[in-house]
Amino acid sequence: MTLIAPSILSADFSRLGADIKKVTRAGADWLHIDVMDGHFVPNLTIGPCVIQSIRAQSALPFDVHLMMTHPQNYIHDFAQAGADYITIHVEAQTEIEKTLFAIKKEGKKAGLSVKPDTNISRLIPFLPFIDLVLIMSVEPGFGGQSFIPQSLNKIAAVKELIGRKKILISVDGGINQITAPACQLAGADVLVAGSFIFKNSSYQKAIQTLKEGK
Ligand code: DX5
Ligand code: ZN
Repeated sequence: MTLIAPSILSADFSRLGADIKKVTRAGADWLHIDVMDGHFVPNLTIGPCVIQSIRAQSALPFDVHLMMTHPQNYIHDFAQAGADYITIHVEAQTEIEKTLFAIKKEGKKAGLSVKPDTNISRLIPFLPFIDLVLIMSVEPGFGGQSFIPQSLNKIAAVKELIGRKKILISVDGGINQITAPACQLAGADVLVAGSFIFKNSSYQKAIQTLKEGK
């Protein structure tokens, strides 16, 4: 069954705690938290102190997506704040393997993300060390963008690449009632959705629609 991870980037930040409780009750499987450093991507979002303060609002796994040029300096802080999955980008300016080990050393699951223009062959050296691949189906940086159709081939190719390894495939960006079933058919295990869920009058209905996609 596909897991649904609402991205709180599209939540109402003036009532973040209430929105998180609401989406948790609505049947979300994980909470996706987008961390942007204003350098790896143009946007700035949230850091460990916000994650720490929302940790008590939901028992769901926190899926923390680090869109950061230098994630290595912050792994301990995000782990302490309450992250369960910590995903870094393969395009980050860091020693990828060392940073993945730092995540594992904290006792957390490690993810590796690829931007739309990045060749998935760059994942190969790190497959033995990761629990999740996060395929970006939009350019990282902002919610509410349109799904890039070529992402479907990428999902299928990553699925083939990981073979029988226990690595989850997550897809992030432009997920809605049309793209969700296509991603599921291509092999996605987790769907990250921001605007489709938080801009819907019923979070429950939106999550149900994404889950029942195929
Ligand atoms: C984009 C973020 C996404 C974003 C998805 O950089 O990584 O998680 O919130 O938003 P939607 O679902 O609106 O495309
Ligand atoms: Zn994300």
